[in-house]
Amino acid sequence: MPSHTIAVASDHGGFELKSQLAADLAAGGWKVLDLGTDGPDSVDYPDFAHKVAQALKSGAASRALLVCGTGIGISIAANRYAHVRAALVHDAFGAAMCRRHNDANVLVLGGRTTGIEVARDCLRLFLDTPFEGGRHARRVAQLSEHGER
Ligand code: RB5
Repeated sequence: MPSHTIAVASDHGGFELKSQLAADLAAGGWKVLDLGTDGPDSVDYPDFAHKVAQALKSGAASRALLVCGTGIGISIAANRYAHVRAALVHDAFGAAMCRRHNDANVLVLGGRTTGIEVARDCLRLFLDTPFEGGRHARRVAQLSEHGER
């Protein structure tokens, strides 16, 4: 039984996929913090990346799912926050590797690029795959040390 809360959010381009996956998570016993959007009307993806970044920072959620049309804009937006490691993923291999090597805390999918069954596989692997640590921990630490903020 999952014990953590997962935050989910999307823009209009990701609304349908986000809603389907949120329902799956709730059915699987996850506590789901749905931060919107709540319908198909046009909204701005940076607002929803911001809401998820805040939820992770406050501890309201320990993992998150973000969806926009391609996943590109919302992943760029999410990765502007130093505590966020958001991985835009298109297949099961990427979903496992973003956990094993990158300790990703946000899975990003494209609502217009990824079908529901592939998305379900990606989400399951994102949630179930542990971080390998070791040399990858050094590299993940460098993500916080390098760059300009
Ligand atoms: C919205 O039309 C679309 O631009 C957005 O969902 C996303 O794909 C941006 O990267």
